[in-house]
Parts: sequence; C-alpha cells; structure tokens
Amino acid sequence: MLLHNQISIALRTPSVPIKSTPKYHHKNAAVFAQQRYPPPPATNFSISDEMLSSRGFTLHRTMDNLDLDHLNTVFVAVGFPRRDTGKIRVALENTDALLWVEYEKTKRLVAFARATGDGVFNAIIWDVIVDPSFQGIGLGKAVMERLITALLEKGITNIVLYSEARVMGFYRPMGFVADPDGIRGMVYSRKQKKRK
Ligand SMILES: CC(C)(COP(=O)(O)OP(=O)(O)OC[C@H]1O[C@@H](n2cnc3c(N)ncnc32)[C@H](O)[C@@H]1OP(=O)(O)O)[C@@H](O)C(=O)NCCC(=O)NCCS
Repeated sequence: MLLHNQISIALRTPSVPIKSTPKYHHKNAAVFAQQRYPPPPATNFSISDEMLSSRGFTLHRTMDNLDLDHLNTVFVAVGFPRRDTGKIRVALENTDALLWVEYEKTKRLVAFARATGDGVFNAIIWDVIVDPSFQGIGLGKAVMERLITALLEKGITNIVLYSEARVMGFYRPMGFVADPDGIRGMVYSRKQKKRK
C-alpha cells in the first residue's frame, strides 16, 4: 500500500445531525495496520478546531466530564460489545492520549478515540467511534488526525491499530498501511491454543 503524502486540507461542510447509519456488527476479524510518515501537521487538519466549534462541537483531550455510561452506549450503538463501565474507567486512566468530541446542543459525546503505549516508542490506537447519527461529517477523521499528531508530538513513531476490513479505507488516507514490510500482527487466541 502506497502512502498518501499529505492529509487533505479541504474543509468539509457538515450540517448536523446528517443521517442515521445502520448499526455495525462487531467482528473479531481485524487487520494490523501501522502509521507511516508524514504526520499530519497540526495546522493542516481537515477540519480546524474553529470550524468544529462553529458547528457546535467541542474537543476534549482528558476524561474530565466524560460520561462513561454514555460512552459505553455509543460503543454499543456502533456494534462494540457493552463493557463494564468501571473497567472502561480503568482503561482510560491507563490511556496515554485520548480525544473526544462533545456536541454542545446535547452536551453528549459524539466521537472518541484513544491510544495506549509506552509513552516513548510505541502506541496502539483503540476504540475509534463516532455516534451513528454523526457519522460521515468528518468527526472520525478529526479525532484521528489530532490523536496521531498528539502521539507524534511526543516523539512516538510506531503507531499501530487493528482495523476491521470494512474500515481500512478510512485509515489508509491517514497513512496507515497493512502488513508494513511484510510484518504481520498476531493476536493471542485461546481457541487457537486449545487446538494445539
Ligand atoms: C469508522 C468511523 C470511526 C468513521 O468515522 P466518520 O466520522 O463516519 O468518518 P469521517 O466522516 O471522518 O470520514 C473521513 C473519510 O473517511 C471515509 N470513510 C469513512 N468511513 C469509511 C469506511 N468504513 N471505509 C472507507 N472510507 C471511509 C469518508 O468517506 C471520508 O472520506 P473523505 O475524507 O475523502 O471525505 C465511524 O464510521 C464509526 O464509528 N464506525 C463504527 C465503529 C468502527 O468501526 N470503528 C473502527 C473500529 S476498527
């Protein structure tokens, strides 16, 4: 997969809420993908902070004021399994970088992404979601661009994620490639181990 040399700077013209999309069904199948250079310059986001704000969206970079029950509800709405909210709290407390978008009108979270890692070399991106009613207006890309930039600004250059096959087209233009240089991701599988 060839790299895209830069992130598009064309501004989207979202009007919200736009449409409802069908619910996704979470599958275990995921593809390992790694972020390659160049990083998106902070001034080159596809939607600026100001544009987001003018559309009624506020960006947050900490878990302060984040309603974890609602986050869990949005996870479920996009097809992720419902998880214990207390465990989600612990996971977020152990997260290196996170971003969420609040819709001012409802004061609700509508987009989220986070990354864990060693804080120096490596990061893994998890839980990239956009509320189905707000998908397709650039919010997923907005949180991903900022999350990647935050990691690169920390000097972290090995950024990976697991992508379901149907979402790879979302990650590719941000610089993610599957099986970089033939390197394959492997996931521990209890089922596989039992067969041995
Ligand atoms: C995947 C997801 C985060 C994308 O968020 P979004 O806000 O709808 O996406 P955006 O509007 O920011 O789209 C950005 C670009 O990616 C494209 N895109 C979005 N979803 C895509 C997909 N599934 N496949 C290919 N391209 C996609 C858009 O067309 C847009 O292209 P453009 O910049 O050329 O206009 C969102 O659809 C979602 O929450 N899905 C369910 C949860 C999920 O699958 N998360 C990923 C787990 S691996």
